[in-house]
Amino acid sequence: MPDVDNLKNAKKFYTDIPQKTEGFFLKGSNSLDWGMKNRLARIFNPETGRTVMLAIDHGYFQGPTSGLERVDINILPLVPYADTLMLTRGILRSIVPPSTSKSIVLRVSGGTSILKELSNEDIAVDIEDSIRLNVCAMAVQVFIGGEHERETIINMTRMVDLGTRYGIPTLAVTAVGKDMKRDARYFRLATRICAELGAHYIKTYYIDDGFETVTSSCPVPIVVAGGKKIPELDALTMAYRAIQEGASGVDMGRNIFQSEVPAAMIQAVNAVVHKNETPEKAFELYNTLKNES
Ligand code: R5P
Repeated sequence: MPDVDNLKNAKKFYTDIPQKTEGFFLKGSNSLDWGMKNRLARIFNPETGRTVMLAIDHGYFQGPTSGLERVDINILPLVPYADTLMLTRGILRSIVPPSTSKSIVLRVSGGTSILKELSNEDIAVDIEDSIRLNVCAMAVQVFIGGEHERETIINMTRMVDLGTRYGIPTLAVTAVGKDMKRDARYFRLATRICAELGAHYIKTYYIDDGFETVTSSCPVPIVVAGGKKIPELDALTMAYRAIQEGASGVDMGRNIFQSEVPAAMIQAVNAVVHKNETPEKAFELYNTLKNES
Protein backbone atom coordinates (compact mmCIF):
# COMPACT_ATOMS: atom_id res chain seq x y z
CA MET A 1 0.00 0.00 0.00
CA PRO A 2 1.41 3.46 -0.91
CA ASP A 3 2.23 5.94 1.82
CA VAL A 4 -0.92 8.12 2.18
CA ASP A 5 0.17 10.39 5.01
CA ASN A 6 0.19 14.15 4.33
CA LEU A 7 -1.21 13.89 0.79
CA LYS A 8 -0.98 17.14 -1.21
CA ASN A 9 -4.29 18.64 -2.35
CA ALA A 10 -4.82 18.28 -6.11
CA LYS A 11 -5.29 21.75 -7.60
CA LYS A 12 -3.80 21.94 -11.12
CA PHE A 13 -7.00 21.30 -13.07
CA TYR A 14 -6.47 23.92 -15.84
CA THR A 15 -10.22 24.38 -16.12
CA ASP A 16 -9.71 27.04 -18.80
CA ILE A 17 -7.79 24.69 -21.16
CA PRO A 18 -9.95 22.13 -22.99
CA GLN A 19 -8.35 18.71 -23.46
CA LYS A 20 -7.08 18.26 -27.02
CA THR A 21 -8.50 15.46 -29.14
CA GLU A 22 -6.01 14.84 -31.88
CA GLY A 23 -6.78 13.15 -35.17
CA PHE A 24 -4.47 10.35 -36.31
CA PHE A 25 -1.96 11.31 -39.00
CA LEU A 26 -2.38 8.28 -41.22
CA LYS A 27 -4.85 8.09 -44.09
CA GLY A 28 -8.01 6.14 -43.29
CA SER A 29 -6.77 5.07 -39.85
CA ASN A 30 -8.50 7.47 -37.50
CA SER A 31 -11.17 5.05 -36.34
CA LEU A 32 -8.75 2.30 -35.35
CA ASP A 33 -8.10 1.34 -31.75
CA TRP A 34 -5.15 2.68 -29.71
CA GLY A 35 -2.94 -0.39 -30.11
CA MET A 36 -3.40 -0.48 -33.89
CA LYS A 37 -2.59 3.21 -34.17
CA ASN A 38 0.42 2.89 -31.92
CA ARG A 39 1.80 0.04 -34.03
CA LEU A 40 1.16 1.94 -37.27
CA ALA A 41 2.92 4.97 -35.75
CA ARG A 42 5.98 2.76 -35.25
CA ILE A 43 5.92 1.76 -38.93
CA PHE A 44 5.07 5.19 -40.38
CA ASN A 45 7.09 8.09 -39.02
CA PRO A 46 4.47 10.42 -37.47
CA GLU A 47 6.52 13.47 -38.51
CA THR A 48 6.40 12.69 -42.23
CA GLY A 49 3.55 10.18 -42.35
CA ARG A 50 5.84 7.93 -44.39
CA THR A 51 7.93 4.80 -44.06
CA VAL A 52 11.03 3.14 -45.44
CA MET A 53 10.36 -0.57 -45.02
CA LEU A 54 13.39 -2.72 -45.71
CA ALA A 55 11.95 -5.88 -47.26
CA ILE A 56 14.08 -8.98 -46.73
CA ASP A 57 11.40 -11.68 -46.70
CA HIS A 58 12.20 -13.05 -50.18
CA GLY A 59 13.76 -16.23 -48.79
CA TYR A 60 10.37 -17.59 -47.74
CA PHE A 61 9.72 -18.73 -51.32
CA GLN A 62 13.06 -18.05 -53.07
CA GLY A 63 15.69 -19.33 -50.65
CA PRO A 64 18.96 -17.39 -50.27
CA THR A 65 18.51 -14.92 -53.10
CA SER A 66 21.33 -12.59 -54.17
CA GLY A 67 22.07 -10.04 -51.43
CA LEU A 68 20.36 -12.11 -48.74
CA GLU A 69 22.85 -14.98 -48.56
CA ARG A 70 24.07 -13.70 -45.17
CA VAL A 71 21.50 -11.47 -43.50
CA ASP A 72 23.76 -11.08 -40.47
CA ILE A 73 26.59 -9.64 -42.56
CA ASN A 74 24.77 -7.81 -45.36
CA ILE A 75 21.51 -6.62 -43.83
CA LEU A 76 22.04 -5.84 -40.14
CA PRO A 77 24.28 -2.83 -40.95
CA LEU A 78 21.36 -1.32 -42.94
CA VAL A 79 18.84 -1.55 -40.11
CA PRO A 80 19.60 1.90 -38.60
CA TYR A 81 18.49 3.57 -41.86
CA ALA A 82 15.12 1.78 -42.10
CA ASP A 83 11.90 2.60 -40.27
CA THR A 84 10.74 -1.00 -40.40
CA LEU A 85 12.03 -4.46 -41.20
CA MET A 86 9.77 -6.76 -43.21
CA LEU A 87 10.89 -10.34 -42.74
CA THR A 88 10.03 -13.89 -41.68
CA ARG A 89 9.99 -15.19 -38.13
CA GLY A 90 12.86 -17.54 -38.99
CA ILE A 91 15.24 -14.70 -39.84
CA LEU A 92 13.88 -12.54 -37.03
CA ARG A 93 14.55 -15.14 -34.34
CA SER A 94 17.83 -16.46 -35.70
CA ILE A 95 19.55 -13.23 -36.72
CA VAL A 96 17.93 -9.97 -35.63
CA PRO A 97 18.98 -8.92 -32.12
CA PRO A 98 15.94 -8.59 -29.82
CA SER A 99 17.45 -5.35 -28.57
CA THR A 100 16.41 -3.67 -31.83
CA SER A 101 13.97 -0.82 -31.44
CA LYS A 102 12.87 -1.02 -35.08
CA SER A 103 9.32 -2.01 -35.83
CA ILE A 104 8.80 -5.44 -37.34
CA VAL A 105 6.37 -6.36 -40.11
CA LEU A 106 6.14 -10.11 -40.13
CA ARG A 107 5.49 -12.18 -43.24
CA VAL A 108 2.70 -14.55 -42.15
CA SER A 109 1.60 -16.13 -45.43
CA GLY A 110 3.55 -18.89 -47.12
CA GLY A 111 3.56 -22.53 -48.11
CA THR A 112 4.83 -22.32 -51.68
CA SER A 113 8.16 -22.07 -53.49
CA ILE A 114 9.36 -20.79 -56.84
CA LEU A 115 9.24 -24.41 -58.00
CA LYS A 116 5.44 -24.46 -57.86
CA GLU A 117 2.32 -22.29 -58.22
CA LEU A 118 3.07 -19.28 -56.02
CA SER A 119 -0.52 -18.23 -55.38
CA ASN A 120 -1.27 -21.46 -53.50
CA GLU A 121 -0.50 -19.86 -50.13
CA ASP A 122 -1.95 -20.35 -46.68
CA ILE A 123 -1.46 -18.64 -43.35
CA ALA A 124 1.90 -19.93 -42.10
CA VAL A 125 2.22 -18.20 -38.71
CA ASP A 126 -0.11 -18.48 -35.74
CA ILE A 127 -1.36 -15.12 -34.46
CA GLU A 128 0.03 -16.07 -31.04
CA ASP A 129 3.52 -16.07 -32.49
CA SER A 130 3.03 -12.59 -33.96
CA ILE A 131 1.97 -11.40 -30.50
CA ARG A 132 4.93 -13.18 -28.89
CA LEU A 133 7.29 -11.51 -31.35
CA ASN A 134 5.80 -8.07 -30.63
CA VAL A 135 5.27 -7.31 -34.30
CA CYS A 136 3.75 -4.08 -35.57
CA ALA A 137 1.97 -5.61 -38.59
CA MET A 138 1.41 -8.94 -40.33
CA ALA A 139 1.97 -9.20 -44.08
CA VAL A 140 -0.20 -11.46 -46.24
CA GLN A 141 0.21 -12.01 -49.98
CA VAL A 142 -2.96 -11.53 -52.03
CA PHE A 143 -3.11 -12.73 -55.63
CA ILE A 144 -5.95 -10.83 -57.28
CA GLY A 145 -6.66 -12.56 -60.59
CA GLY A 146 -4.35 -15.43 -59.64
CA GLU A 147 -5.17 -19.11 -59.65
CA HIS A 148 -5.79 -19.11 -55.90
CA GLU A 149 -7.33 -15.66 -55.69
CA ARG A 150 -10.14 -16.65 -53.34
CA GLU A 151 -7.95 -18.53 -50.86
CA THR A 152 -5.43 -15.69 -50.65
CA ILE A 153 -8.18 -13.10 -50.10
CA ILE A 154 -9.60 -15.24 -47.33
CA ASN A 155 -6.09 -15.61 -45.82
CA MET A 156 -6.01 -11.82 -45.62
CA THR A 157 -9.48 -11.40 -44.13
CA ARG A 158 -8.67 -14.06 -41.51
CA MET A 159 -5.60 -12.11 -40.46
CA VAL A 160 -7.58 -8.86 -40.39
CA ASP A 161 -10.09 -10.52 -38.03
CA LEU A 162 -7.42 -12.06 -35.81
CA GLY A 163 -5.26 -8.94 -35.84
CA THR A 164 -8.22 -6.75 -34.93
CA ARG A 165 -8.77 -8.94 -31.87
CA TYR A 166 -5.26 -8.18 -30.66
CA GLY A 167 -4.58 -4.73 -32.14
CA ILE A 168 -2.15 -5.83 -34.85
CA PRO A 169 -2.56 -4.28 -38.34
CA THR A 170 -2.55 -6.37 -41.53
CA LEU A 171 -0.49 -5.39 -44.57
CA ALA A 172 -1.96 -6.75 -47.82
CA VAL A 173 0.82 -7.50 -50.27
CA THR A 174 -0.61 -7.44 -53.77
CA ALA A 175 1.28 -9.94 -55.88
CA VAL A 176 1.59 -9.72 -59.62
CA GLY A 177 1.54 -13.06 -61.38
CA LYS A 178 3.61 -13.61 -64.50
CA ASP A 179 0.62 -13.21 -66.81
CA MET A 180 -1.05 -10.26 -65.07
CA LYS A 181 -1.13 -6.87 -66.70
CA ARG A 182 0.61 -4.24 -64.57
CA ASP A 183 -1.55 -1.22 -65.26
CA ALA A 184 -3.50 1.35 -63.25
CA ARG A 185 -6.78 -0.47 -63.76
CA TYR A 186 -5.38 -3.69 -62.31
CA PHE A 187 -3.72 -2.00 -59.34
CA ARG A 188 -6.84 0.05 -58.57
CA LEU A 189 -8.78 -3.20 -58.52
CA ALA A 190 -6.26 -5.10 -56.38
CA THR A 191 -5.61 -2.38 -53.81
CA ARG A 192 -9.25 -1.38 -53.45
CA ILE A 193 -10.37 -4.97 -52.90
CA CYS A 194 -7.78 -5.38 -50.12
CA ALA A 195 -8.80 -2.10 -48.48
CA GLU A 196 -12.53 -2.83 -48.72
CA LEU A 197 -11.95 -6.17 -47.03
CA GLY A 198 -10.11 -4.60 -44.13
CA ALA A 199 -6.37 -4.38 -44.84
CA HIS A 200 -4.83 -1.55 -42.84
CA TYR A 201 -2.28 -0.70 -45.50
CA ILE A 202 -1.29 -2.11 -48.83
CA LYS A 203 1.88 -2.87 -50.72
CA THR A 204 1.70 -2.57 -54.47
CA TYR A 205 3.90 -1.62 -57.42
CA TYR A 206 4.57 1.74 -59.04
CA ILE A 207 3.42 2.26 -62.60
CA ASP A 208 4.36 5.21 -64.81
CA ASP A 209 0.86 5.85 -66.05
CA GLY A 210 -1.98 6.59 -63.62
CA PHE A 211 -0.39 5.66 -60.30
CA GLU A 212 -2.07 8.68 -58.67
CA THR A 213 -5.46 7.12 -59.47
CA VAL A 214 -4.37 4.02 -57.54
CA THR A 215 -3.41 5.98 -54.43
CA SER A 216 -6.44 8.27 -54.59
CA SER A 217 -8.97 5.45 -54.93
CA CYS A 218 -7.42 3.43 -52.11
CA PRO A 219 -8.74 4.61 -48.70
CA VAL A 220 -5.72 3.39 -46.71
CA PRO A 221 -1.97 4.03 -47.12
CA ILE A 222 -0.08 2.47 -50.01
CA VAL A 223 3.60 1.57 -49.99
CA VAL A 224 5.46 0.56 -53.14
CA ALA A 225 7.73 -2.41 -53.64
CA GLY A 226 10.99 -1.85 -55.41
CA GLY A 227 10.66 -4.81 -57.75
CA LYS A 228 13.57 -6.26 -59.68
CA LYS A 229 16.97 -4.57 -59.47
CA ILE A 230 17.30 -1.55 -61.73
CA PRO A 231 20.01 1.18 -61.84
CA GLU A 232 20.14 3.26 -58.65
CA LEU A 233 19.01 6.51 -60.28
CA ASP A 234 16.01 4.74 -61.83
CA ALA A 235 15.03 3.20 -58.49
CA LEU A 236 15.29 6.58 -56.77
CA THR A 237 13.21 8.14 -59.55
CA MET A 238 10.55 5.49 -59.11
CA ALA A 239 10.46 6.02 -55.35
CA TYR A 240 10.27 9.81 -55.82
CA ARG A 241 7.40 9.64 -58.28
CA ALA A 242 5.52 7.15 -56.12
CA ILE A 243 5.81 9.43 -53.09
CA GLN A 244 4.88 12.56 -55.03
CA GLU A 245 1.87 10.71 -56.50
CA GLY A 246 0.48 9.72 -53.12
CA ALA A 247 2.37 6.69 -51.78
CA SER A 248 3.08 6.69 -48.05
CA GLY A 249 6.45 5.01 -48.39
CA VAL A 250 8.38 2.16 -49.89
CA ASP A 251 8.66 -1.51 -49.09
CA MET A 252 11.95 -1.96 -50.89
CA GLY A 253 14.21 -4.99 -51.02
CA ARG A 254 16.32 -5.85 -54.05
CA ASN A 255 16.96 -2.28 -55.12
CA ILE A 256 18.59 -1.78 -51.74
CA PHE A 257 20.27 -5.04 -50.82
CA GLN A 258 21.40 -5.80 -54.42
CA SER A 259 22.76 -2.27 -54.89
CA GLU A 260 26.50 -1.90 -55.28
CA VAL A 261 26.54 -0.05 -51.94
CA PRO A 262 23.37 -0.98 -50.00
CA ALA A 263 24.05 1.36 -47.05
CA ALA A 264 24.38 4.32 -49.42
CA MET A 265 21.28 3.32 -51.34
CA ILE A 266 19.02 2.99 -48.31
CA GLN A 267 20.10 6.43 -47.10
CA ALA A 268 19.34 7.90 -50.53
CA VAL A 269 15.90 6.22 -50.50
CA ASN A 270 15.32 7.57 -47.01
CA ALA A 271 16.03 11.11 -48.24
CA VAL A 272 13.52 10.72 -51.08
CA VAL A 273 10.82 9.34 -48.77
CA HIS A 274 11.22 11.53 -45.70
CA LYS A 275 12.78 14.72 -47.10
CA ASN A 276 11.15 14.89 -50.56
CA GLU A 277 14.65 14.88 -52.03
CA THR A 278 14.69 14.84 -55.83
CA PRO A 279 16.08 11.70 -57.51
CA GLU A 280 19.07 13.65 -58.81
CA LYS A 281 19.97 15.02 -55.36
CA ALA A 282 19.42 11.62 -53.76
CA PHE A 283 21.66 10.04 -56.39
CA GLU A 284 24.34 12.60 -55.56
CA LEU A 285 24.00 11.57 -51.93
CA TYR A 286 24.29 7.93 -52.96
CA ASN A 287 27.50 8.64 -54.87
CA THR A 288 28.98 10.70 -52.05
CA LEU A 289 28.30 7.95 -49.52
CA LYS A 290 29.53 5.33 -51.96
CA ASN A 291 32.84 7.15 -52.43
CA GLU A 292 33.23 7.53 -48.67
CA SER A 293 32.61 3.85 -48.03
C1 R5P B 1 8.25 -10.47 -52.05
O1 R5P B 1 8.74 -11.50 -51.78
C2 R5P B 1 8.00 -9.56 -50.98
O2 R5P B 1 6.69 -9.15 -50.82
C3 R5P B 1 8.93 -8.39 -50.97
O3 R5P B 1 8.95 -7.98 -49.66
C4 R5P B 1 8.50 -7.23 -51.86
O4 R5P B 1 8.32 -7.67 -53.16
C5 R5P B 1 9.47 -6.08 -51.81
O5 R5P B 1 10.71 -6.47 -52.27
P1 R5P B 1 11.33 -5.94 -53.64
O6 R5P B 1 11.55 -4.47 -53.47
O7 R5P B 1 12.58 -6.69 -53.82
O8 R5P B 1 10.32 -6.18 -54.74
